[in-house]
This record gives sequence, C-alpha cells and structure tokens, in this order.
Amino acid sequence: MPHPSASLIDISSSNNLQIEALFSSAVELSKSIEATKSLSRTAALLFFEPSTRTRFSFETAVARVGLHPLLLEGALGTSLEKGESIEDTVQNIAAMEPEVLILRCSDAIDLIGLQSKIKIPILNAGWGSRSHPTQALLDALTIKASGRNLANEKLLVIGDVKHSRVVNSHFELAKILGYEIGICAPKEFLPSEYSGRHFLNLKSGLEWATSIMALRVQHERHGQKYSLESYSENYGLSLQKLKSWGADGLLLHPGPVNYGVELNADVNQDARCKILDQVRWGVYLRQALLARVLAERKVR
Ligand code: CP
Repeated sequence: MPHPSASLIDISSSNNLQIEALFSSAVELSKSIEATKSLSRTAALLFFEPSTRTRFSFETAVARVGLHPLLLEGALGTSLEKGESIEDTVQNIAAMEPEVLILRCSDAIDLIGLQSKIKIPILNAGWGSRSHPTQALLDALTIKASGRNLANEKLLVIGDVKHSRVVNSHFELAKILGYEIGICAPKEFLPSEYSGRHFLNLKSGLEWATSIMALRVQHERHGQKYSLESYSENYGLSLQKLKSWGADGLLLHPGPVNYGVELNADVNQDARCKILDQVRWGVYLRQALLARVLAERKVR
C-alpha cells in the first residue's frame, strides 16, 4: 500500500517540490506567528524537581487562562538522560515560543542568568532552597482574604527555616507588605546569620503570633538525617497545643505535610487551619500572574 502523501518517515520519499512547498509554508507561518498562536498559545511547565501542589495549581491556572500546557516532569524520557543540560533544555523550549516558562529547579541553576538569555518570561515555581515567590504570595493572599490587614500581621514560622525557599520569599515579601516574621525553631534550623525575632519554645512564639506557618523538616536538603524524636514534642502542633491560642489566629502550611511530625492530623478540624484555602488561593494567584504575562506580551 502506498504511503499517504502527507506522511514523513524518510527524506527519500520526498521530492524537491514538496520540500520547497514545506519551506514556503513554514516561512509564511513564521510571519503570522501571532495569528497562529491565537488558535493555541502554550505555556511550558518545566519541573526538574518533584511537585504536586505547585504543578497542578499552575496547570489549572494555565487551563483557566486558555493556554495549552506543555509539561516536562523530571529527566525521564527527555534528552537530559542523554546529557543535555537543564539550561540547554530550557533555551530549546523557549525557542518554541511558549507564552511563558514555569520552572522548578535546583539551586544549581542560574535562573537570573537564564532569563537574561531568553525573551520568554520565566515564572519561578520553586528554586532549590532559594525562593518560592508564588507560594509566599499565595500565603499572604490567604491571610488577606481572611479579612486581615497584612501590615498588622505577626507571622510565626515554625520549623526548618534554614532550608525553606518559602520563608526566603516571605522575608522579601514581608518587607514590601509590612508584616512581621518570627521564627520558632531549634538553633540548627535557623538560617545562617539570622538576626531577626527568634523563639526557642513554642509557647512564647504562640503568645506573640497572630498567624502561624508550620514547615516540613526537609530531610532531602540535610547532609545527615535529622532526628525527629524531640522535634515533634517541642515544635509539632496539635489541637491541644493550639487550644489556648488566639481564636482568630490562622494556621498555614505550604505543604507537603508530614503528619505526626510538624502537625497532628487533628488540626485539620480546626476552623483556624487554612491549608486547603492556601491551595485554592494559589490557583487564583497564579491565574493573575499568567494574565499579567499575557497582557504584557500583547502590549509588546
Ligand atoms: N508548596 C509546594 O511547593 O508544594 P509542592 O512541592 O507539592 O509543589
């Protein structure tokens, strides 16, 4: 049976005329790229490190603003397995002209240097232990949407701050929005050269705080496994420990949660627990960011 004439399996089955026609068509398409893209604009989601919330949240937001998601999740099945670098991978995908690159990667990647090499805007979806701006923004939005004035807020972060990209972004955001941050953690979980407010015990931290954010112990970023024996007893939150805390306090966690370590599952029954609200607001926040990307690219 002859091949359908539109198939392409080997070059040898094409003739000069067909190839010239293909080239002309591609050149015409490149001239009307904006018209072509209005049919199907894309967003590239490149997750070189694991994620559940951020990836699905961005995917949902991408769908809601009418972009088609292109997903790369880890190295498996990509040319990273053949030794291509992450920087090259990102630049190659950027050359396919998505509207936006949504990127999660390790500290080893120079995201700022990478952005300077490509025109497509990058949205940081979690950068090693450095930063996670959309998480900090959605946390602040969750607090604000609960009817609070962020400028009056005292946010107590409990746990492994040293390895937390979320808290690094909160330090930056707090300077802009005016909320205070206190840390409640053993000394080994403090960031190096931290000189801010620090509570060694939970009781004094809770007395100060108007909202609290528990963190996961990030074993994967510790040189050696951290012992959890006394951690949960001293810093883990439970309904019992929160009993005498402010009735209008807010409890946050960026996820994923290690139940039985930093949180007892019973806190989910408490109206002050806003963990799933954070997830819900995360989608709207990311939708708003994507809308800003699309608006800016339209202007150019
Ligand atoms: N909060 C957060 O970044 O969760 P994921 O790692 O599941 O995306």
